[in-house]
Amino acid sequence: MPPLGDFEATLQAATGRLTLTPSPVTILWVSYLEYDRTRRDMTRHSGQPIPRDSNLYGATMIHRISVLLALCLTLFPFWTGSAVPSSPQGKDMIKKEAFGKTPGGKPVELYTLKNKHGMEVRAMTYGGAIVSIRVPDKKGHFDDVVLGFDKADDYTSKVPYFGAIIGRYGNRIAKGKFTLDGKEYTLPLNDGPNSLHGGDKGFDKVVWEAEPFEKPDEVGVVFKHTSPDGDEGYPGNLKVTVTYTLNDKNELIFEYHATTDKATPVNLTNHTYFNLAGDGQRDVLGHELLLNADTFTPVNKTLIPTGKIVSVKGTPLDFTKPMVVGARIDQKDDQLIFGRGYDHNFVLNRKDKGLTLAARVYEPTTGRVMEVYTTEPAVQFYSGNFLDGTLTGKQGHVYKVRYGFCLETQHYPDSPNEPSFPSTILRPGQTYHSTTVYKFSTR
Ligand code: BGC
Repeated sequence: MPPLGDFEATLQAATGRLTLTPSPVTILWVSYLEYDRTRRDMTRHSGQPIPRDSNLYGATMIHRISVLLALCLTLFPFWTGSAVPSSPQGKDMIKKEAFGKTPGGKPVELYTLKNKHGMEVRAMTYGGAIVSIRVPDKKGHFDDVVLGFDKADDYTSKVPYFGAIIGRYGNRIAKGKFTLDGKEYTLPLNDGPNSLHGGDKGFDKVVWEAEPFEKPDEVGVVFKHTSPDGDEGYPGNLKVTVTYTLNDKNELIFEYHATTDKATPVNLTNHTYFNLAGDGQRDVLGHELLLNADTFTPVNKTLIPTGKIVSVKGTPLDFTKPMVVGARIDQKDDQLIFGRGYDHNFVLNRKDKGLTLAARVYEPTTGRVMEVYTTEPAVQFYSGNFLDGTLTGKQGHVYKVRYGFCLETQHYPDSPNEPSFPSTILRPGQTYHSTTVYKFSTR
């Protein structure tokens, strides 16, 4: 699209970021027709042409042209269906650029996806991590609703999984041990007595191969990685692809696929910290949360599930109706004490295996809404309790306790040690497949 002319830019500003399809040429053409008709009308009534410098002529013309212009401006966006917020580009696009290096000197690339409404997602090859998501608020003002850093090097120090793909096993495996087909496997202990998020060097700490794609109405990037047999103690060569798609419905879609040549536990997710108020500048306690979960898996004090599935009714974990995150977070409840806030696996109410609503989050000051849909059986709601103000992120913002929250769609934690939980074992010949959609809107 050519750059906006002054005229169109003024129209856009005046009409609050609407895309107005009537071009100046259309409006000039309609005005010319009206001018010509006025001349002819006046000739008919008076029997002779009205001189162009007469007051009556000028006034009639101006009146008619302004009525027509006003009608055009008001109705055209609705006739064309274009009365929606729009990016200056007005079309989907994808861009690739360098984003620094890993400590080992491997180059890291950054992909920028943009849809026709101006929503923008940046993801990098280190950890396949989401670096930023820019979406409008209810007034059409765009902000970044994701915590993160300005360059890849900042992610390679001790950063708790910001934006990253988590694997091979999302969340905890008790004491870093599980037995599969009669054989015991040992994993690194990187979270007290347990193994968390794939071990010391999980999928968040590798550089993924990336392949961008463009289709009508969507753009995306496919991240690929092969985790070798024995990687962080897990059996089998695991081939993983994670496809990120941004479409024109303001949906960011994660699609996970994996295959293996030996039986192995697999539980893949994404660990983006969101703050819908924008730019991670205050805590998320004022966000309103709904979780489509009547039950959850309670944990012990090292955050390992007890094996029970318990109703949320009457507990501070009941988000079955929208509830402000901060309303009960500091109650003297064992589960909240163990998690230092919310850090729990909620079991989704689902009727079938398809995409089901997991969560809806609303930020009242900006009107931003994020909905999460998934094919997974559960979602970990983590209220950023372990952020402690030691990390300085994008634009120099310091990330303090509860400045971001995660909604990690997943199978239940420690499933390899809990036979009653849905299985997370992938076997040769099977394909792991799961989908999660983050959908943005305003209210
Ligand atoms: C876990 C938290 C952990 C965090 C690390 C979450 O998925 O549930 O317990 O501290 O990841 O960032």
